[in-house]
Amino acid sequence: MHSKEEFQLGLTTEVFGRSLLVFETIDSTNTYAKTLAGKGAEEGTVVLADSQTSGRGRFGRTWFAEPEDSLLFTIIIRPTFSTDKIGLLPFFAAAGIALAVETATGLKCECKWPNDILVHEKKNCGILMESSFQNNRLEYAIIGIGLNVNQLNFSGNLQDRATSLRKECGIEFDRRKIFCQIMSSMESLYTDVSRGNFDTVLMEWKARAAIFGKQIRLAQTANVIEGIAVALADDGGLIVKTGSGRRVFHAGDVTMEQ
Ligand code: BTN
Repeated sequence: MHSKEEFQLGLTTEVFGRSLLVFETIDSTNTYAKTLAGKGAEEGTVVLADSQTSGRGRFGRTWFAEPEDSLLFTIIIRPTFSTDKIGLLPFFAAAGIALAVETATGLKCECKWPNDILVHEKKNCGILMESSFQNNRLEYAIIGIGLNVNQLNFSGNLQDRATSLRKECGIEFDRRKIFCQIMSSMESLYTDVSRGNFDTVLMEWKARAAIFGKQIRLAQTANVIEGIAVALADDGGLIVKTGSGRRVFHAGDVTMEQ
């Protein structure tokens, strides 16, 4: 296990990752970060773990990762922009991670709405954002990131759908270096984002968008919508051309028809 100091050795940031808690095992870095944020933890605080016993994914799913193969961490942010921009925050995380992974590995990342990162059409990173409001204002948001770094094998049906940086490049990566690169690219995007300016984030995300113009299936809790993914709405929703016209969706799991 790497210590907090080892993870911080290559940090070039001023705020992101400067307050860092590293655990060998934790239930979920998101759950811990939420408690910390509720107690007033400062912006940029990161909770990182080598393994999680109850890692959480979107839609209440479990996020499973073998110890020490992934980067599993959660960052706390406290942006002050108006609440109508909150739907854009996941794009900030996805763009920041994609930029960092590309710089660190030379791979090309694709962004899948709303916040998955794919490499060669397989999922390489998942993001779980949770927010807390007080008096209709955003009190804090926590962004949980699970990035597959050094896995060589994925179990069951993940085999065909997930990948790691090591699998794609054929070399083992130093998780500490990737972590520092992510902190750096997220912090540099956050200067604008914290003021409510998502222009750069959306430009970077759209440049890597994997779904526009494609036939997709959007699975929601109770139904499945089929159509062509057309564009991103101003609030981060997905505009889909369906049999009953253009509709905007704000949640769901997208699969692309081959
Ligand atoms: C997804 O479903 O794609 C999102 C997965 C997010 C997983 C990460 S791992 C670190 C952080 N802690 C959690 O419990 N979940 C997120």
